[in-house]
Parts: sequence; structure tokens; C-alpha cells
Amino acid sequence: MSASPPHPTPSPRFPASFVWGVATASYQIEGAAAEDGKGPSIWDTFVRRPGAVRDGHTGDVGCDHYHLLDQDVELMRRLGLDAYRFSLSWPRVLPTGSGTVEPRGLDFYDRLVDRLLEAGVTPTPTLFHWDLPQALEDEGGWLNRETADRFAEFTSVAAERLGDRVKRWITLNEPFIHMAFGYAFGTHAPGRALMLDALPVAHHQLLGHGLATAALRAAVPDAQVLISNNCTPVRHRSDARSDADLAAGSAYDALHNRMFNDPLLLGSYPDLSAYGMEDPAWGGVVRDGDLATIAAPLDGLGINYYNPTWVTAPADSAALLPFDLAEPEEAYRRTAFDWPVVPDGLTELLTGLKARYGDALPPVWITENGCSQPAGLDDRARIDFLAGHLGAVADAMAQGVDVRGYFTWSLMDNFEWAEGYHQRFGLVEVDFDTQTRTPRASFDWYRDLIASQRA
Ligand code: BGC
Repeated sequence: MSASPPHPTPSPRFPASFVWGVATASYQIEGAAAEDGKGPSIWDTFVRRPGAVRDGHTGDVGCDHYHLLDQDVELMRRLGLDAYRFSLSWPRVLPTGSGTVEPRGLDFYDRLVDRLLEAGVTPTPTLFHWDLPQALEDEGGWLNRETADRFAEFTSVAAERLGDRVKRWITLNEPFIHMAFGYAFGTHAPGRALMLDALPVAHHQLLGHGLATAALRAAVPDAQVLISNNCTPVRHRSDARSDADLAAGSAYDALHNRMFNDPLLLGSYPDLSAYGMEDPAWGGVVRDGDLATIAAPLDGLGINYYNPTWVTAPADSAALLPFDLAEPEEAYRRTAFDWPVVPDGLTELLTGLKARYGDALPPVWITENGCSQPAGLDDRARIDFLAGHLGAVADAMAQGVDVRGYFTWSLMDNFEWAEGYHQRFGLVEVDFDTQTRTPRASFDWYRDLIASQRA
């Protein structure tokens, strides 16, 4: 069934080689949380904590993608996608995070890869999208440096099985968000509220990325290795442009963006003294050789963009954090999540990356961009969002940023972390009682856009 006539939004012309995709993540769609030998992840644990997730929702069933894989790949074939970004559930493959491999877990991803290739869709797996094996969390999770080694072990297992067919790999998804929400504020799994004591989680994830990159290059000589960072341009209200506000903005930018991009692209961390981190070795966390491992050449930088962040100087000068977050004064349209819709923030972000990193910036891939909208099939607001952001990508490309592809978040409505099933990001509507999938107007629009770009 089709929702409504295609939306007539004009679109700029992208190069013929531009890759059109959609993105999802294992815990958000797979379900089958304890099936075929899968071990528990930190999300399986966290969702059972009273009050952790809105209305007590869990990803136990999710979109039941584990069982409905064929249907879902068929949707992708109908979209005419070039590529599908999904993630591998680490505890499905290594139930305790290390050691014994669960062959049924690997078989599932093997089948998914084959189905995708049959449908003409390039598999683009992410190796870690937040569902750490609980057994590793019991050993300290990403606060424990050894988790980086375990991640490289998992990467080798996955790459050895899939690397004959899978060439484009993404190591981590949004290490900033995982550190901030999972370990600093505790609103995501593993639900630890360590504030600044969470910072080693950044370094250990990045080290894991570097070790996983080496593991991928060893197992798949022609691998393309990417990482997906959540990035945000920092903005100021017109009444918040004092030197103190600008310093707060710079401190926020260091934490959210530069702490994750600089070590990858420049081989060093930014100045983190606003966070009480004067010591470049972070009190022994950053060891000799780590930064060289992290800065191993990348084939692409994945950028996940949702909106800019408005920052002011902290109202309380004794506050732990050197910034306050603010609301924009402009009356932007809002998504169902109440996030402001600011397409030109994406142009600003991309051209800002080029300005900062110059020739050290590898080709950029937009590995997530999309919005939550109210339930329903006539999602013109989503079409406007996507069209606006694709225009913003084209503007950045016209200004010299080398962007190779765009993955919409998301193929279908799914488990939106602490919001449970309340936020709907899908091109496809999912009825979570029946698992019926129904393409929305945005599905038809994206399909037609891809076709017209190829014409
Ligand atoms: C994450 C996705 C999430 C999306 C929307 C990104 O931060 O990678 O897992 O669903 O944003 O919140």
C-alpha cells in the first residue's frame, strides 16, 4: 500500500557515484533478545530498571527484524537503495563479549548480508551501536581499557566471517553520545551517572576504534573503514555572545565534537582544561602509542547530524560543567521530539570540518540524519526535513566538502532508547502490536528521489 502522492520537492543533483542509504541499529530493531544463544547486552539489563525507559518499553521484540529480515530487505529493494547501514549485536556473536562464538548469531548476519547483496544493496555494518555485552559491563564496560581489546577480538570474528562480501565497515556509533548518556548522565545504558569521571570512556572507545581498524585491515585487505561521530555546530543566542559565552561554546565544542574528531584526524586531544584535565595523559588513561593507534588512516568520516546546540556561559560559576545549554531564540519548526529543524546547521558543520581539518579530513559520509514525526502515513514534515537537509549537504559539497553518501535515520520506526516506541523516525510505519510495516509518503519520496538521481 502506498501512502499518498509523491511530494514535489525539488532536489539538487548529486554525483552519479553518491551512495543513497538508510540506517538502523541492532538493539533498536532486531528483538529476539534471548534467542539462538544471544547473551544479554547492557540494554537488556537497563530497560528492566524501573523508570529507565518511558512506559517501561523494552527492545525484547523491537521490530522483530530477526525474524522478518526478508520483508525488511524487500522494503530496501523497493527503495532502490545503494547501501544499508545496520549494526551487529556483539552479544549475539560473542554472548559473553569474548571467547566462545555463537555460530547462530554469525549465521544471522551472514544471511542478512547475502539477502542484501541479492537485492543490490551494499551492506555497511557498524560494529558497535551501544549494545555492549553485559558480561563486559560487569568488568567495567568502557571504563575498562581491556574492553578496547575485546572489541578488536569481536571485530576480527565478524570480519573473518563477513569480510569476503562486506568491504565498508563502521567501527563505532557516536562514542560521544554513548559516553555522555550512558556513563556521564545515566539516561542510557549502562545507566552510570559519573559526570566527568566518565571521560576515560571516550579514550577507551577511540582506542577500541583504532584496534578494530587494524583488525579490519588484517582480515579484509580491501576494507574501507569509517567511524560515525555525532557532531553538532555550536551556536549562540544574540543575547549570549560575551567572551564568557564564547568560551563556554568552545568548551562544549571540545567535548562534543573535537574530543572525538581531533584524535582521529590530528592524532591529539583538544585542550580539555575547562574540564579540569590539564594532564595530556589524563592521569595515565592515555598511554604511549595510543594516539598513533587511534589516528590510523580512515577511509571516511561518518557524521550523524540532528541539530545545532545553543550554548551560554554557566549561570552558576561554581558549576561542574563549563557551559549551560540554551534554547534558540528563533522559532524553528520542531520535530515530534521537539528538536529544532535547522538544515543549514549541517552545511555549517560540514564546512567547519573542512576548515578545521583541511586535507586531513577524509571523505565524509552522512551516516545518520532524520527526524521523529507523529504517527501516520502522510509525513510531509519528514519529507521537508529530508529535502532540506539534502539541500544542505549539496551546499556543503558546492563549497568543496567531499561527501560520498547519505543514510536516512531510519528505515522504519523502532525502539528509540529512553523514549521507547514513542518517537517515530521511520520511512516505514511499524505497528508494534502486529509488526505490520506500511511505507509512508516519505518512503515513496525517497524512492523517487533515488530513481531520479540515477536517471
Ligand atoms: C543514534 C540512533 C538514534 C538517533 C535518534 C542517534 O543518536 O545513533 O540510535 O535512534 O540518534 O535519536
